[in-house]
Order: sequence, then structure tokens, then C-alpha cells
Amino acid sequence: MRSSNRFETGERRWYSPSVPHPAARAATTPSMRAIARTKPWWVLALAAAAVLFTACSDSDLPQNTFAPAGPVADKQAGLFWPVFWVAVAVFVIVEGGIVWMALRFRHRKGHDRLPKQIHGNTRLEVGWTILPALVIAVVMVPTVGLIWELAAEPSDDALNVTVEGHQWWWGFSYTDDDMQTSYGGQIATSDVVVIPVDRDVHFSLESVGGLIGGTAEQADYAVIHSFWVPKLGGKQDVVPGHTETLTLSADEPGTYWGQCAEYCGLQHGRMKLRVVALEQADWEAWVANQKQPGVVPTDPLAARGMDLFLNGAGNGQCIACHAIGGTDAASAAGPDLTHFADPTHECFAGCIWETNDREALAEWLRNPRDVKLGSKMPDYDLSEDEIEALVAYLYSLT
Ligand code: CUA
Repeated sequence: MRSSNRFETGERRWYSPSVPHPAARAATTPSMRAIARTKPWWVLALAAAAVLFTACSDSDLPQNTFAPAGPVADKQAGLFWPVFWVAVAVFVIVEGGIVWMALRFRHRKGHDRLPKQIHGNTRLEVGWTILPALVIAVVMVPTVGLIWELAAEPSDDALNVTVEGHQWWWGFSYTDDDMQTSYGGQIATSDVVVIPVDRDVHFSLESVGGLIGGTAEQADYAVIHSFWVPKLGGKQDVVPGHTETLTLSADEPGTYWGQCAEYCGLQHGRMKLRVVALEQADWEAWVANQKQPGVVPTDPLAARGMDLFLNGAGNGQCIACHAIGGTDAASAAGPDLTHFADPTHECFAGCIWETNDREALAEWLRNPRDVKLGSKMPDYDLSEDEIEALVAYLYSLT
């Protein structure tokens, strides 16, 4: 019976050992034209790599995961790199094999018969099932080990800090007994968390939302955030209704930038934070200052600002949402402003602005929802005089 399939004709097939593949013949005598034809791809690839790798310079990258500055980040990087290189090896072998085979055995005019089929080859099937399983098993040993290690209870002298994810800023409350303020309640900061160097900080993370339209049991705006300070360690999701924990520490004094890493609404991309790590003496001075109530200003403009803050400005009340230690302002709905102008409080409003930028603060008070879309801070229609006085007051709160 004559086959109608051209692949099944009786001609000798090119994969017969006695007939070299046309590509193999070509490969032994590469023409200059062939090289020139492939060159543009190499040029393009090199150009693309050059553009890509310019982003890899170490300087000026405050959120560089590859520049660990604490033991947790160090351990995570120490796991990342071997796993990464294993993945690179797998990629190169598998993709290289695919590309090589696609080129080596590509379709050519006049050689259009089906190559020898090898499906159902038990040895190959078993091989490529066992090999990846072995690779995974090898990678799993250090991975699981580190997961356990990082989940362990922190050391006894760890500093305990509760992290509150709000829409859209981070609040921090220092919950240890020796972190009680002189005016009642615990030391609390917003946007910036200050820690001592070389000491474990045990964070308990909660998504607290706001109480503006909710209740104590059911806060509104309670959404999932993710706490991430890349140079100090990997991220931890902050899930409403759960208390998650994370232990980090910093090797050197300095400022470490962080960022919410879970989409949480309009300002997610600008829900930033900073960790300021201080030497022991600076830390103790900072704690002592934080225990003090908010400064009562003597400067007349700042004093007027304080009066506006406590008794109403524009058509609203600052104290509906903010706390200033030692005054009637005690709401926890918005950031605690007791030490707004402390030098460690480098940034405000989700760290969108540097605190030393007075004009930014004025602009923020002038029209919060214009400069921070979706902000829960209301526009109280403040006059320029009121803004000037409030700015003066806030900068007196060292
Ligand atoms: Cu909070 Cu994204």
C-alpha cells in the first residue's frame, strides 16, 4: 500500500548516522555571511544588558536588597545567592538545550521528514523526573532551615515594637515596660521607627485601619499591608485580624528605608517608612526625650498654633485624629505628633516628604487630599495665617 504521507516514504532519512545533518555540514564551514547575519543579535543583546545593568550600581539605592545591613538580611542574602545560581544553572542548561536543539534540528528545505520519535522513553522520563526532584531537595534543606531559624523566638533582651499599618502610613508603639512615657501611654512614633543598633527588635504587626468611620471591633480601612525594609530583612504581610511577628536588627547606625509591599489602596506606592538605628548613647537620649510630653512653645506664633491645634482650626479639629503627649490631643486615628520635629523623624505623611521641608508641610495642611490622593486627612479649609501658626507649632515639637 502506498503511503500518502511524505514523511513515510522510503527515502533515507537525514538522521541516519551515515548521512550528516545539513546543519552539521554547515557548522563545519561557517561562512562569513552567516556570522554577520547573527551579529546584530549579539549587539542588541549587549546593548540591552548595558542598559539593564546600569540600574545595578550600588550607590544611592536606599532599598537595595543586595546590600544587607543586618543579620536577617545577611542570612536571607546568603540563602538567595546559592539558590539563584542553582536556578541560573538550570536555566542555562534547559534553555540552552532547547535553543541548541531548535537551531541544530530546525526545518530545512528538502529535509522535511519527521525526525525519529522518542516519546515513551522510560530512561529519559525517569531521569528528568528524578533530577529536578533532587535539585529541589538540595535547595530545600537550607531554605527550610533558615525559615525555622528566622521564625525562632527573639532573644530575651529584644526591643518590642508594635507596627500598625494604616491607610497610608506606618505607626509604631514601643510596648516594653521601660518605654512608658511620663504623661501616660507608651512611646509612639509614626513613619519612622527608631531602634538601637545591634539589638533584636521584635515587631508585632497589625493592620489597624482607622476609627473614623468604624468601631473598635471593626475598624474601617483595615487592609493588607506588607512591612518591608529591604536592607534589614525580607517582608512580612500585615493582615487584618492577625498579629504577625518579625525580628530584625541593624549592624550599623544609619537610616534604612522601607516600603509597603502589598497593594493597599490609592497611596500604596507611597506608603513608605524609615528605620533609624542609633548608637546606644544616642538611643538612650532619644528614649529619654520621647518620654517627655510635647513642648509647650513660648514663641507667640507657635503658641497660637498650639491653641489652634487643640481648640480647632479652619472648620475642624486637629485633635479629632492626632495625639500630642501631655495635651488634650489623644486620638490614635492619625499619626502621633508629640515629637514631630525630632531630628530622627526624618519624614512625614507616609514619608512622602522630608520633615525639614517646611513648604511641603504647609502645602500638606493647605490641601491634604490634593497632594496625597485619597488621604484620610480632611481639608479643614485653613487660612494662610492658621497654616503658618500650625507649622510653627509642629516645628516646635522636638
Ligand atoms: Cu500599605 Cu501597600
